[in-house]
Amino acid sequence: MDYSENYFFECGSGTIVNCLPEIGRQTVVAEILAGLRALPKRISSKFFYDRPGSELFQKITRLDEYYPSRTEKAIFEQLPLEAVTDCRDLDIIELGSGDHSKISLLLKKVPPGRLSGIRYFPVDISRPALESSIRELGRAFPELEVQGIVADYFHQMHLVPGDRRKLFCFLGSTIGNLERDEANAFVRDIGGTMEPGDAFLTGFDRVKDTAVLERAYNDAGGLTARFNRNVLNVVNGLIESDFNPLDFEHRAFYNRARRRIEMHLEATRDIRVRTPFAREEILVGKGERIHTENSHKFDDADIQTIAEKAGLAVRNIFSDQKELFSLALYGKDR
Ligand code: AVJ
Repeated sequence: MDYSENYFFECGSGTIVNCLPEIGRQTVVAEILAGLRALPKRISSKFFYDRPGSELFQKITRLDEYYPSRTEKAIFEQLPLEAVTDCRDLDIIELGSGDHSKISLLLKKVPPGRLSGIRYFPVDISRPALESSIRELGRAFPELEVQGIVADYFHQMHLVPGDRRKLFCFLGSTIGNLERDEANAFVRDIGGTMEPGDAFLTGFDRVKDTAVLERAYNDAGGLTARFNRNVLNVVNGLIESDFNPLDFEHRAFYNRARRRIEMHLEATRDIRVRTPFAREEILVGKGERIHTENSHKFDDADIQTIAEKAGLAVRNIFSDQKELFSLALYGKDR
């Protein structure tokens, strides 16, 4: 995650612009230190996605236990493009694009000749993830115009282009990582930039049986545990600290009251962490947890409430047969 250097460069047949420096390295250091000084300690889940973290997440999406990604893709495969958007002169802005597999399923449905009228703006905090998806998209859809934006989209909505009809995509239930009020505010922000005729497609992981949920975040092969611990490597890189990820155990459980999976890292011994950015040592006591992720779960009423608070209308909710996952299509009436 490069907060220090501004760059714009060609990537395959597309381009990438890094907008993270606009946030600034100091802001990120301050954010991480504040989380480590808080009680309980926390690290934002956006820091999971350095190169190894993005690769681990890719592997998680292919796990038998982890149903969300494959279920969302199955919904996409069933979905007629006309049900989502008119694809003439369209800008697609995908927030937290990660890999390009879902948008590819949509692009495959675009009639031949129409692709050249579409511009695709993947926005992601992870440059490696953006680079590989832009290269692969360039090969699969040579007529498509692609401009990647490296950004913390939560704070950088102004980077979104303004002149054409827009389809926003926020897929994979990334919205579940936000607190409920943050999710409301986020959709309201997007709603504020939308015009009638624009659309917003959001992926929601649904409330379901606790055992199914907990299995998805405690895979037998331990990939999710490695993914969780890797955030300490990312933190070490950003604040030059000396966490040893192996001093921590992976904890993931369903919080029924708040309807979310929580992930934590639990210290297996007393730990002192040093960083040149703080005068004091950071102490993590044996058994103490660092909260690393929330993954909220949703039902139709939640999807409706989010729309109402943002001044948007729910046009459709597309779900799989077992109702594990939903894609909600929001629009704007006036
Ligand atoms: C990428 C946010 C959708 O919350 O399920 C997967 C990340 N964390 N396994 C999720 C994740 C642990 C994932 N999202």
